[in-house]
Amino acid sequence: MPVRNICCIGAGYVGGPTCSVIAYKCHDIKVTIVDLNQARIDAWNSDNLPIYEPGLDEIVFERRGKNLFFTTDVDGAIQEADLIFVSVNTPTKKSGMGAGMAADLAYVEGATRRIAEVAKSSKIVVEKSTVPCRTAQSMRTILEANSTPGIHFDICSNPEFLAEGTAIKDLLNPDRVLIGALQTPEGIAAQKALAEVYTHWVPADRVITTNLWSSELSKLAANALLAQRISSINALSAICEATGADVDEVAYACGRDSRIGSKFLKASVGFGGSCFQKDILNLVYLSEQLHLPEVAAYWKQVVIMNEYQKKRFVRHIISTLFNTITNKKIAVLGFAFKKDTGDTREAAAITLIKDFIQEHARVAVYDPKVDHEQIFRDLSEPGVIDTRKEVEKHVTICASAYEACHDADAVVLVTEWDEFRDTALDYQKVYDNMHKPAFLFDGRLILDAAKLRQIGFKVSVIGKNE
Ligand code: NAD
Ligand code: UGA
Repeated sequence: MPVRNICCIGAGYVGGPTCSVIAYKCHDIKVTIVDLNQARIDAWNSDNLPIYEPGLDEIVFERRGKNLFFTTDVDGAIQEADLIFVSVNTPTKKSGMGAGMAADLAYVEGATRRIAEVAKSSKIVVEKSTVPCRTAQSMRTILEANSTPGIHFDICSNPEFLAEGTAIKDLLNPDRVLIGALQTPEGIAAQKALAEVYTHWVPADRVITTNLWSSELSKLAANALLAQRISSINALSAICEATGADVDEVAYACGRDSRIGSKFLKASVGFGGSCFQKDILNLVYLSEQLHLPEVAAYWKQVVIMNEYQKKRFVRHIISTLFNTITNKKIAVLGFAFKKDTGDTREAAAITLIKDFIQEHARVAVYDPKVDHEQIFRDLSEPGVIDTRKEVEKHVTICASAYEACHDADAVVLVTEWDEFRDTALDYQKVYDNMHKPAFLFDGRLILDAAKLRQIGFKVSVIGKNE
């Protein structure tokens, strides 16, 4: 039976864009995206969507109220649907067994139990959240133990590979769509029904079908392999700085080998985002549980290297500023974990600014898309700095890059927003209004250092020692 009615549980960075694109491409399917968070749903129903993603507004505004709906009526949407995406958050556990490493599956379990409790007809349940390998087994047990007699559930794993900032592009033209299912006649039929949703716009040869466990593990594996490339090039950036090699040249020279490839080899201040660290730690935990300590240590090193890169950058800034940044004004350009998103989860800027505050610097932050309150919330988290007051004493949020850099001793470029490029921002104006010597630290390798040195800046770039 073709799918006619889809419910997506979780209106976040994945559920929102993914199911909006399904509605946009499949006018014959009614798509209802639900969430427990009323404010988030209200925002999805407003002119000001809760997430910034290039191209998202147009798609939502075109289909909303036609075959795309946002609501907090979770039960109603579950009952109507033939297929349900579970796209809820799976953060790293904060306490209990596996704290700091294992994924917290409470939200997945909550959504699964709700489906079992309220469903009045058979459904295909699709695991969209990133989960540890064999989670589908637990979902199946919960569904079977709690459902009304006569109702049957099939489970598919359909991990999402979109990247923030390019989500719409990635969804409209994915490299592949992965669908895992039990290789039973019912499982294969469910797999086929979900595949037919995607083949409304994705060429059939890009829809890969596998068994459930391969699909679940492939998602963790893909993120681990991607993050590993960044940690590898960042490890090489340290060697470049010590030897005079240039990390951009090394990445280019290596990436030209088609077996290596050029993508995801850009050295940086360290990767951020809600998933890389969480998913690698998840893989580390899985390896430990499987009594594979060498495998666990191998993947853990990717995260350790990422922390090292951030700390190394801070140490370099402090030593360049004559070993003290106390009372100095540091302008931080960018707070989001990458350009074209307002998402700040695990952003490198958070680690850097917390360290600057520890050193008693005055920090001025500018980001074109991140909400001011969000910046204070991220910096005030308990831990290194546990009071909001302390943060407010040290950090000012600015309305422009020029304002942030005014009277600064150093500018630290943390997010690669296009408006910070030397072709967009007037660095002469920035320089004229800074304390001298005017230091500039490029954590994203997007600036023309020679041009900026001509203006008078003392420029440092990760992975270069010019
Ligand atoms: P998110 O926090 O933005 O959204 C999750 C939403 O689920 C929240 O709004 C929350 O209120 C809602 N929710 C939780 N429990 C619920 C319940 N029982 N009923 C209804 N709503 C509920 O998270 P996200 O970034 O969209 O990530 C979701 C999943 O997708 C995670 O497993 C993540 O690892 C994975 N993923 C994320 C990305 C990404 O780029 N953010 C990419 C691929 C995969
Ligand atoms: C990443 C993956 O790219 C997606 O395929 C995956 O679906 C997603 O995680 C997920 O599971 O959540 P995302 O975190 O949104 O997507 O963004 P990326 O483009 O991967 O960037 C992650 C971090 O790595 C950013 O901080 C980025 O600046 C950094 N990065 C990326 C580098 O430092 N160098 C690079 O060459 C590429």
